[in-house]
Amino acid sequence: MNKLIVNGKNKLYGKVDVKSAKNAMLPLIAACVLLDFEVGFLNCSKVGDVTVMLDIIKCLGGKYRYEDDTLFVDCSSLYIPELPCELSKKIRASVFLLGPLLARFRKVSAVTPGGCNFGDRPIDMHLDALRKLGAEISGKEHLYLRADKLEGAKITLPFPSVGVTENLIMAACLAEGETVILNAAKEPEIICLCSFLNRLGAKITGAGSYKIVIQGVKKLTKKITYFKPISDRIEVGTYLLATLNTGGEIEINGANFIHNVAFIKKIYNNACKIAFESDKIYLKCCGVGNGLGLVKTAPYPSFPTDLQSPLLAYACSLNGKTVIEEGVFKNRFSIVNELRKMGAMIEVSGTKAIVLGTNFLTGAILNACDLRSGAGLIIAALGAEGVSEIVGVDVIERGYFEIDKKLKLLGADVSKG
Ligand code: EPU
Repeated sequence: MNKLIVNGKNKLYGKVDVKSAKNAMLPLIAACVLLDFEVGFLNCSKVGDVTVMLDIIKCLGGKYRYEDDTLFVDCSSLYIPELPCELSKKIRASVFLLGPLLARFRKVSAVTPGGCNFGDRPIDMHLDALRKLGAEISGKEHLYLRADKLEGAKITLPFPSVGVTENLIMAACLAEGETVILNAAKEPEIICLCSFLNRLGAKITGAGSYKIVIQGVKKLTKKITYFKPISDRIEVGTYLLATLNTGGEIEINGANFIHNVAFIKKIYNNACKIAFESDKIYLKCCGVGNGLGLVKTAPYPSFPTDLQSPLLAYACSLNGKTVIEEGVFKNRFSIVNELRKMGAMIEVSGTKAIVLGTNFLTGAILNACDLRSGAGLIIAALGAEGVSEIVGVDVIERGYFEIDKKLKLLGADVSKG
């Protein structure tokens, strides 16, 4: 059952609920390592990467349980500062545990992490940043980190990396003195992590800006029972694009419009009407849109790299040209070869993909090479003539919970096989 069979051309109509963001949940779970009490996270879905992260927590001696869609994580009994090899290799986010484990145990051993396959994804910036707080690091494939004490420092990141900013914040919370992070990532997931840590007694200011300042504290002692993470802005974008590519009308519940401004600006008034109100976004399609011109992905608040493949899939059916420039990862165009199997006309030159819209894709046998290209393939298949088989549902389910069921409820002809 690792295939998704999609019979295209059904319009999507209805409502879909979006839950807590995968990329908010992963650092929040890592932050639980700093606590010796249980915390509940509201509105969670059991996406694959979160499940692997929780299994890693279990291997370290922690516990977790779900009550409906509330996830409780308890790291009070954590005793092993050693990341399990096989599980860590499955997700990139295992590297987020280095900072908090180092802060708690003053030592940690780990293998280099895995994750979605889109080229080389080094962890040099993570290690350099932790070194600046006082960590001594040895080993290559197998890493040993040690710090008799962590001391605050002023650290300028060479790139506003999301994960490095998160790792540093978590380690710096329990370091001695002040840490200043310059060129910090500004993503909503960073603000979410800092709100969580501050509610527990951390002293962090500047989250969401270029400069984040952390005054170290001895312990995070303010107990909270529940925390509500931000909703998944990439899942929101994915359902909007799926609807745009088929035609129809959708209401998304649990969305934060502000987090998706750069994306919505690109699709606004292009053969669709979009409205929003509290935590809902409404989209109504009206015909086939025009090519989107130049879309450049870059760190927040710019257009998100995680919606690049889904947008590329949608651009294939537009009237006219779209040029997509990937500004975050070196090699994130694995979807292109798959879309070509469907008849798409796309040229790739370095970090640019030039899409000549055709409005005429046909179903094919496709491979989900990574999570977001898998999501893009579903979008393409929903709008294509005939049947597509997308191999690698497990890859897509790393970040989308029951996407087949949600699409079916919207009227798509989708089944697992
Ligand atoms: N980078 C380095 N060295 C490092 C760390 C990063 O060179 O030590 C480079 C990366 O190779 C990349 C750039 O810096 O070129 C930015 O990567 P970043 O560190 O910001 O990415 P990340 O923290 O590993 C998170 C999300 C990704 C998302 C990126 C960018 C999580 C768990 N993952 O990854 O999400 O694409 O930020 O927004 O938060 C996804 O959900 O599909 C996904 C890949």
